[in-house]
Amino acid sequence: MRRAGKVARSTLLAVGRKIKAGISTAEIDSWVREDTAARGGRPSQLGYHGFPAAVCTSRNEVVCHGIPRPDVLLDSGDIVNVDVTTEFDGFHGDTSITFLVGEGSPEAKHVVCVAERAMMAGIAQVRDGARLGDIGAAIQALASREGCSVVRDYGGHGIGKKMHGDPHVSHFGKVNTGARLRAGMCITIEPMINLGGPETVVDKDGWTVRTRDGRWSAQFEHTVLVTREGCEVLTGEEC
Ligand code: MF3
Ligand code: CO
Ligand code: CO
Repeated sequence: MRRAGKVARSTLLAVGRKIKAGISTAEIDSWVREDTAARGGRPSQLGYHGFPAAVCTSRNEVVCHGIPRPDVLLDSGDIVNVDVTTEFDGFHGDTSITFLVGEGSPEAKHVVCVAERAMMAGIAQVRDGARLGDIGAAIQALASREGCSVVRDYGGHGIGKKMHGDPHVSHFGKVNTGARLRAGMCITIEPMINLGGPETVVDKDGWTVRTRDGRWSAQFEHTVLVTREGCEVLTGEEC
C-alpha cells in the first residue's frame, strides 16, 4: 500500500506540473497513462464499471468523475481536479488535487483552499478507535464555517487489493457515531466542497457529476493507513 500510494502521488504531481491554460483534459489522460506505465503501475479507473479513461478530470462545476475529453480545454482561471488511482503490485493508491489554472479568482482560490483544509481536518481525526462520524463532523464544521457546503452523494472508501471497499467514508456526520476505525485499515478521505448548495446531478454520459446550481466545486484526496497513534498518509510523498 505504501508503494502504490507513492506511485499514484508521483504520477499526480508529475502531471500537475504540466497543467496550463490551453491543454485539453484528454492530454492529462494520456500523460497519466504514460507516467503510470513508466512506473510499472496500471490505472485502476480504466474500465472500472466501464469508466472510459485512466483518470478523472473534473473542471469548475464538475464535482467528480469527469471524463477527459479532447474538446474540454483548460482556460486561465479554471480549476480542475485530477484524480489518479494506480494499481501497483496488486494494491491501489488513490489521490487527487484540484489545480488552479493560471491566476484564480478569489472565489476559486477559496473553494480550493477550503477543500484541502477539509481533507486535512478529516485526516486529523483518524486513529485507532476513532469513529467515522468524527471524520465527517470535522469536515462539515470546517466547510460550513467557511461558507461552503459538503457533497453528500459521494464519499471516501476502504481501499486495498480493491480500489473501492468498505467502509463508506461520509464527509458529513456526527461525532461519536458510526463504525470504529482500527489500526491497519486503509481508507480514503476525499471531501467534495461546493461554493453553492450540496446537490448534484449526473450527465447523460452516466459519469460526470455536476453541482445542481452550477457553482464551482473542489476536491482533494489522500489514501491513509490507520495507526494506533493517528495515521500515515500513504499518498503524501513522491517516489
Ligand atoms: N478515484 C475515484 C475515487 O476517488 C474513483 C472514481 S471511479 C471511476 O474513488 F470509475 F470514475 F473512475
Ligand atoms: Co477514492
Ligand atoms: Co480518487
